[in-house]
Amino acid sequence: MSNSGEAELLHTFKGIPFTTRSSPELLKSLDTFDAREDDVLLVSYPKSGTHWLAGVITKLYNAQVTVTSPIEFGDISQLEELNKLSSKRIIPTHLDYNMLPPNFKSKKCKMIYISRNPKDTAVSMFHYYRDNPNLPTVDTWPAFFDLFLKGNVVCGSWFDHFLSWEEHEDERNILFLFYEDMKKDLPKVVKEISLFLNLNVSDNNVQDICKKSSFSEMKNDTEKENSDPNHTVCALTSNRKLIFRKGAVGDWKNYFTPKQNIRFQEIFNEKMKLSKM
Ligand code: A3P
Repeated sequence: MSNSGEAELLHTFKGIPFTTRSSPELLKSLDTFDAREDDVLLVSYPKSGTHWLAGVITKLYNAQVTVTSPIEFGDISQLEELNKLSSKRIIPTHLDYNMLPPNFKSKKCKMIYISRNPKDTAVSMFHYYRDNPNLPTVDTWPAFFDLFLKGNVVCGSWFDHFLSWEEHEDERNILFLFYEDMKKDLPKVVKEISLFLNLNVSDNNVQDICKKSSFSEMKNDTEKENSDPNHTVCALTSNRKLIFRKGAVGDWKNYFTPKQNIRFQEIFNEKMKLSKM
């Protein structure tokens, strides 16, 4: 980080860095948040394909649902706003499993966790840090690479986040998805999501949803949204244009040096030794 004043953009809660756009009062109140049984949580570490998944899910439900802003975003009044919503709520969050309001767990709300190769996630996040005034400045890729591996980035360590959720992978109300699977065979993943959410969707609808959810379509839609850039499911920006960058698998190869790749792999192997991944 190049500027000491920028330290004020982040604060730490329960050992995890959050932007100041998530107020400490709101984070403290999450434990008492009142979930509804039909809430659907859309969970991710940042830059894992959250907007893509949200786009697919809203198309599956048509107009009957509201994708809210992330539950950890805003000040305390945000929780009241969420309480007031009369429609079904799709609630995005970057919280790790341990910080999730316990009510979502006890009510067995449906939760969809999307994950992505952490190397691509790191590169995507690097660009996001560079372009987003709500995040501290990072000057170079090597500097960001170090911060990412140490978990000194917003939402903390990728490894801790993934592991906290993976432990619950087998619970019936949790669906685990991978960005790379969506890239490989989106119709298959869309069908999997619709089954999980008990939605009846025809093959034609699936095709249509996939077409409208392609990277180019979603990017174009965003570019037409000049009048209202404030609609985003990301807690870290209100500018949707920052979200749709490249949408590729394997971009990390353009950034990682062989030495960085070895270091990443060593840390991955160590941290993930108990993971099924
Ligand atoms: P890149 O920065 O690698 O391009 P999130 O929504 O969690 O912030 O994730 C953003 C990442 O998902 C960005 O990755 C973005 O381009 C990618 N993404 C968004 N929509 C996509 C789509 N329709 N198809 C493929 N990738 C998409």
